[in-house]
Amino acid sequence: MANDLAERLRLAYQARSALHEDPQTTAYRLFHGYGEGGPALAVDRFGDVAIIENRGSTAEEVDIAMQVLGKAEPFSCIVLKERGKEPRALLGVLPSEPSAVLEEGLSYWVETWAPRNPGLYLDARPARNWLRANSSGRRVLNLFSYAGSLGVAAMAGGAKGVIHCDTQKRALLRCQENHRLNGQRTDARDQERMDVVKMLRKASEKGRKFGGVIVDPPPPSASTASNCSAMTPTSLAPAISPLVEPGGWVLCFFHHDARSWDELEEEMGKALGRRAVSMWRGRSGSDFPESSAERDLRLSALRIA
Ligand SMILES: C[S@@+](CC[C@H](N)C(=O)[O-])C[C@H]1O[C@@H](n2cnc3c(N)ncnc32)[C@H](O)[C@@H]1O
Repeated sequence: MANDLAERLRLAYQARSALHEDPQTTAYRLFHGYGEGGPALAVDRFGDVAIIENRGSTAEEVDIAMQVLGKAEPFSCIVLKERGKEPRALLGVLPSEPSAVLEEGLSYWVETWAPRNPGLYLDARPARNWLRANSSGRRVLNLFSYAGSLGVAAMAGGAKGVIHCDTQKRALLRCQENHRLNGQRTDARDQERMDVVKMLRKASEKGRKFGGVIVDPPPPSASTASNCSAMTPTSLAPAISPLVEPGGWVLCFFHHDARSWDELEEEMGKALGRRAVSMWRGRSGSDFPESSAERDLRLSALRIA
């Protein structure tokens, strides 16, 4: 069993050789337990820090992961995160200052000691790439912005501007810092600190229009934990629809949904109440090999006529 896990970790490391060799990308998943034969472990690289997330593996299994990682890469720190416990360093000293990582040449601040996400959702890399290729000349609305990585990618792709909406002050500050880190213009007026539903209503009353709207609500488990009723791209579609200019797109993140992709897009189209054509479908990157379709993140961009 121990040998098996060590071998799977090594195979996973080898499978990411293109990422290891890319000097423009220093943040990605090194081991995705769900799809790579170790359901209770995930390992991420953020620059020279590795984070092991243990969701129920034994101490021996965590030790194996540390040994394999230590041999594969000269990490300055290996952090262990376990539910209900403070993150701790298994190797080196737990960082206490944000550090910048790279993804396809763009930079993002991360807090590798944070108990939750360090500031960059690694599974959204394909969405960031799509935004970079499809935002030129558009005003983009980033709903549930968190630290703003999707907006940074849109600006890098030539967006005229990005409005971020999130309830967390800290997340919105990080949006500004991430724009600045990439030499992008940013303004306090580009941050809407309020509930998405309220923001959409106010924007509609003011007749605001966008060439692109990003809808990435927290996955159902996260919203249940924070006591909010689960919001989905489909439930928000009627409020988003009046804000999209003709020819604009809506980029939807469908998390943990048992419905087929066709069903999701059809329902989204109906809920928007306008003619909507699917223009792109994406998933997480190759560093997130999934074993079950329902677990997959599915990304759909719909163009509104
Ligand atoms: C999963 S993160 C979004 C990730 C982000 N799109 C990215 O790619 O980095 C969810 C975010 O939604 C925010 N949020 C949750 N409920 C919200 C609401 N009702 N209105 C506005 N923001 C909300 C949280 O504060 C959190 O920052």
